[in-house]
Parts: sequence; C-alpha cells; structure tokens
Amino acid sequence: MTILVTGATGNVGRHLVERLHADHQPVRALTRDPAKAGLPAGVDVRAGDFTDFASLEAALEGVTALHLMTTFGPGNTTVPNSRDLVDAAVKAGVRRVTLLWNGYAGPVEEAVEDSELEYTHLRPGEFMSNALGWAGMIRAEGVVREAYGEVGHSPVDVRDIADVAAKALTEDGHAGQAYLLTGPEVLTAPEQVAAIAAAIGREVRFEAKEPEGAKERMRAMGIEEHAIDYVLDWRADPPEFARKVFPAVPEVTGHPARTFAAWARDHADSFR
Ligand SMILES: NC(=O)c1ccc[n+]([C@@H]2O[C@H](COP(=O)([O-])OP(=O)(O)OC[C@H]3O[C@@H](n4cnc5c(N)ncnc54)[C@H](OP(=O)(O)O)[C@@H]3O)[C@@H](O)[C@H]2O)c1
Repeated sequence: MTILVTGATGNVGRHLVERLHADHQPVRALTRDPAKAGLPAGVDVRAGDFTDFASLEAALEGVTALHLMTTFGPGNTTVPNSRDLVDAAVKAGVRRVTLLWNGYAGPVEEAVEDSELEYTHLRPGEFMSNALGWAGMIRAEGVVREAYGEVGHSPVDVRDIADVAAKALTEDGHAGQAYLLTGPEVLTAPEQVAAIAAAIGREVRFEAKEPEGAKERMRAMGIEEHAIDYVLDWRADPPEFARKVFPAVPEVTGHPARTFAAWARDHADSFR
C-alpha cells in the first residue's frame, strides 16, 4: 500500500505527508523539485508536475490511495487531463481518493465520480493560513488593511484538513462523503486580527480597505488577476457553509477543530 500526496509541499499537503509518515503509513510525496521539498527523511519524494502527464503516471506506480488537488498554482489552474489521470490511477491500482476542492466541483471531481474509485470530497472553507498574507503589514506597520472585513467566515486550520484527509485515505467508511471542513467559530477579519494581536502581545489595527486596494496588495505579491478576483469574491461572498460551523472535523478526527486563537499562537513568530 502506498499513498500518493499531490501538493505535498503546500499548506495542506505538507501536513498530510507529515501526519501519514508519523503514523507509519507508506507515503509518497509529489513535488516539482524534490531537492527543495524539505519533507521528513524516509518519505518517498518524487518529481512530478500536473502539466507533465508522464511524470504523474510514473508517480502513480504501485499507489493504492491518492490525495489529489483539483487546482494548483497562483493562477488556481484546474488539474488538466483529469479523465486520463483518473484512468491512469485506476490502472495503477488506486482504490481511494481524497479530493481537495477549490470552491466548486469541476472536471476533476466529475472524472473521479464517474470512475470506479472510492472518493471523499474535502470541502474546506477559508484556510486560517490565508492570514499569513497579512504578516508583512503586521510586522512592518502593526496594521492589517483588508476588504470585506464585515463578512464572517469559519476559517479552518489546514492541519485539521490534513487530519481528515489522513483518516479518509487510511480508514473505511468515508467513501462517497463530502466533508464540509470549517473551524469551530465564525470570525470576521478584525476578529482574526485581534486574535493575532493577542498572540504576539502587540496592538494591531484593522483598516477597512476598498477591494481595489486589496487587489493592489495581491498584485504586488505576484498573484494573477483571475486568482485575485477569485480570492476577493470568496472573501466578499463565501459559500453558505463557509459562514457556518460544521462538525465534520471533530466527527472524523475525534479531536476538536483547532481555534483561530490557537493557530495564531502557533504562528506568532511569522507576525513578529
Ligand atoms: N486558501 C484557501 O482559503 C482555500 C480554501 C478552499 C480551497 N482551497 C484550495 O486549496 C488548494 C491549494 O492547497 P494548498 O494551499 O494546500 O496548496 P499551496 O500551499 O497553494 O501549494 C501549492 C502546491 O501545489 C504544488 N504545485 C504547484 N504547481 C504545481 C504543478 N504544476 N504540478 C504539480 N504540483 C504543483 C506545489 O508543489 P511544488 O511547488 O513543490 O511543486 C505545492 O505543493 C487550491 O486548490 C485552492 O483552491 C484553498
């Protein structure tokens, strides 16, 4: 049995690889650059690129369970050739798949649902780790300038997404489920900023910003235009479930969903 994790150096994937490895599961990590992956010793790190189908076929050899991103990169590009990828996974011997959605069910989900694979949809709301995008402003000026600060979200810790994925990839009973993965509370951006301020023991102001100003900040970070629109649209008008608290994280993992205050304490150094 081998579990292939795509996006293995990303927010969710890195925690998933570490979690599976700590649980003594045979895990294979996909990255475009194994030399830079920085994953635990003993993890089978493979070079692979969603845009290079042969590299995916090679990485799938001997794999029985697969954690699959549905979009990737700063442009939030849909994983291409999804029907061929699913066929290759089935041919390689994959039985189970977890699918990390990006806000809507697209061609990757459709291809998997039409196949003989056992699939579990992971449908997270906003990641708590998006708040790391504020780190530069907080360190330099003690301020967060953000649009749509009045909108409440139930942000989820990526470690909880990884914990759910690990269960779905290694246990029976998750096939066909679509888990709505939220944190344990609804928070606005100013409330998240207050939690970060408490974690670092410094005052941090919140300044409401017009969407155009928030766009400029993301453009300066090198984020592509349609990805900026996607992020801001989500921030302005998140899916209904991402404004509420759902029980999937505690039900699947057996532990409470991590709070934003705990996340902020664990990442305090990034904001100092
Ligand atoms: N942020 C949110 O609030 C949020 C909410 C819901 C859903 N999502 C979804 O979550 C996904 C992002 O997950 P994440 O934040 O864990 O990832 P991430 O931190 O953005 O990391 C991107 C990962 O994708 C890999 N990658 C990039 N280009 C690649 C390519 N051409 N071929 C193969 N791998 C490639 C990178 O690997 P290497 O660089 O090592 O190759 C890296 O491991 C997206 O689909 C997003 O829509 C995000």
